[in-house]
Amino acid sequence: MRHRGVEVAVTPALSSFDAQPFVSAGFRVLEHLHLLAYRLDRRDDHAFLSAHDEQANAITRSLRQGRPWHRRVVLDIDQRAFEPFWQFDTNSLAEARRATPTARYRVALDGRTPIGYAVTGRAGDRGYLQRLAVDPDHQGAGVGRALVHDCLRWLYSKGAGHAMVNTQERNTRALALYEHLGFARQHEGLVVLRWTAT
Ligand SMILES: CC(C)(COP(=O)(O)OP(=O)(O)OC[C@H]1O[C@@H](n2cnc3c(N)ncnc32)[C@H](O)[C@@H]1OP(=O)(O)O)[C@@H](O)C(=O)NCCC(=O)NCCS
Repeated sequence: MRHRGVEVAVTPALSSFDAQPFVSAGFRVLEHLHLLAYRLDRRDDHAFLSAHDEQANAITRSLRQGRPWHRRVVLDIDQRAFEPFWQFDTNSLAEARRATPTARYRVALDGRTPIGYAVTGRAGDRGYLQRLAVDPDHQGAGVGRALVHDCLRWLYSKGAGHAMVNTQERNTRALALYEHLGFARQHEGLVVLRWTAT
């Protein structure tokens, strides 16, 4: 890569098995991620299938398909919710939506303004919560939970068997949200690797 003028290269999230060739080629661990899974068994007592309370219902009613005119505010939310390295731009948002054969892009609205968004993908039997971010000014009010419930409801309705999500080990808030909603931490996590020319 060096001879092509590449200074830095970063992998997607990899299992330790898939990481091996990169490590042998000189990549180093940039971030450890937890991998969590939710089993979408065919049963009718999933929390995401039933109403919670008025506040949760109001947020759920505000969810809409993400549209091109939401993008500026969605990216602004993303940039305020994530630290610089993980922030999305127009391309990464489009890539997240294209990463699987089908995807759902939802925004939570306050009036007409997005205050959170989620991208969920599905490939066959498996679903992936690809991205979730809530405006820091609106966190802790149930928006994240409503977006995750919407993701699970959609995957369930499409017959998916599992929903997967990964999150940085130090993202205790996201971890608390996912575990609280019934995701189980998998024994083996994932890693993101980085290679630098120096
Ligand atoms: C993680 C995030 C999406 C949560 O969204 P949110 O709207 O604040 O979450 P909610 O208000 O719906 O909270 C749902 C659950 O999360 C947990 N939670 C929320 N705020 C919390 C806090 N301050 N501390 C610990 N746990 C918290 C609780 O388990 C809560 O359950 P409860 O409502 O029954 O108490 C939001 O904090 C965020 O955008 N963070 C930055 C981006 C990010 O990390 N995205 C996920 C990457 S994998």
